[in-house]
Amino acid sequence: MTASAKKGGKLIALTFDDGPGPYTNRLLDGLAERGVKATFFMVGQNAKNYSDTVRRVYREGHQIAQHTYDHPTLSTKSDEQVHWQLDTTDDILNGHLGMNFNYLLRPPYGDYSKHTLSIIGKPAIIWSVDTLDWKYRNSNTVRDNIVSDAFDGAIVLMHDIHSTTIDGALMAIDILKEQGYEFVTVNELHRRRGRTLVNGELYYSCKPTGTD
Ligand code: NI
Repeated sequence: MTASAKKGGKLIALTFDDGPGPYTNRLLDGLAERGVKATFFMVGQNAKNYSDTVRRVYREGHQIAQHTYDHPTLSTKSDEQVHWQLDTTDDILNGHLGMNFNYLLRPPYGDYSKHTLSIIGKPAIIWSVDTLDWKYRNSNTVRDNIVSDAFDGAIVLMHDIHSTTIDGALMAIDILKEQGYEFVTVNELHRRRGRTLVNGELYYSCKPTGTD
């Protein structure tokens, strides 16, 4: 038994970007069947059109986070434009949920500058496992990329706007469950490991610290 297993087992955070979309409900069905929680980095212009899906994601215990309004490279935008992208998206999500949250950000393309980070007023969540699901559009490849690169504390990047990603992710979950992984949201991953998310800081993974 490894030290991390003794302390509380292997944790992994699955994240889905660029939605919600027409396949998101199918993903939610599969996650619910498996009792798995994930994090959704929603694009504001899609969230606007999928209010029921946004509410369902929240209601079923997943974490809602944001991915800007229309997916620009933030480092090329003015301060005003960056604030508009983030504020508009927070407002859309809060409008659907009747909440007043400051949602975590995943910057599109993982692109940022030092200056971007200084003005966003949110933690920036990157990733440590890139499934390249958008490139291969093949469910077996998505499954294999997740399973072969998974580690305790990993943050896995996927996109729920591709049907093949839904199938690949669900197959990978079944395999990783057998390996003892627990699926947690980005917030839960850091909370369990005693790590505080700070505005303007970057997060790629959260390996065992001995506190969880
Ligand atoms: Ni994206």
